[in-house]
Amino acid sequence: MNDFTILKDSVNLDDESKMLMEKAKEALQYAYAPYSNFHVATAILLSDGSIVTGTNQENAAYPSGMCAERVALFTVASQYPGQEIKKLVVVAKFANQSVLAPATSCGPCRQVMLEFEQRQRKPIEIIMQSQNHEWVKAHSAECLLPFCFSPENLQVRK
Ligand code: THU
Repeated sequence: MNDFTILKDSVNLDDESKMLMEKAKEALQYAYAPYSNFHVATAILLSDGSIVTGTNQENAAYPSGMCAERVALFTVASQYPGQEIKKLVVVAKFANQSVLAPATSCGPCRQVMLEFEQRQRKPIEIIMQSQNHEWVKAHSAECLLPFCFSPENLQVRK
C-alpha cells in the first residue's frame, strides 16, 4: 500500500503533527553525534496522548550507536507497554546549522517501525523531510517498506 502525502512545507502539516514536530525539535539537543555531527530526533505520539522522544546516540565503536527512531520506539515498548503508537515525526539538523536537514529514516528503522505497526494492528503515521526538502507524510510504516521481511517469513503468527 503506497499511501503518502507530500507537503511543500511543514506549515502545511496538521496541528497535531506540528506540535509533535516541535517536541522533536526540542529533543534535538539530547542527540549525541560527535562523529557524524548529524543530530536526529524522533517524537512519538501515543494513543493516551503521551509523547515519547528519542535521539541518535553514537559511539566511538560506530555500529554500537543507535538511530533516534529506534531509541524512541524501544523506549515506548519498554516504558509504555500496551500503548498504541499513532504518529512518529523525525527531524534532523547538522550541528553547525540551525535549519532542519532532510532525514528519511534508514532501512533498519523502517523495519522496526513495521513490526511495531504489525504488533498493534493499526497503522503508524510517519512524518519526515525528504531529500528535496518536502515533507512526506506516510500513512503507514508498511508503505515505506514494500516486500518487507516480517514474522510471517519465519512462519510466526502474531
Ligand atoms: N540516523 C538516525 O538517527 N536515523 C536515521 O534514520 C538515519 C541516521 C543517525 C545515525 C547516525 O548517528 C547519524 O544519523 C548519521 O548517520
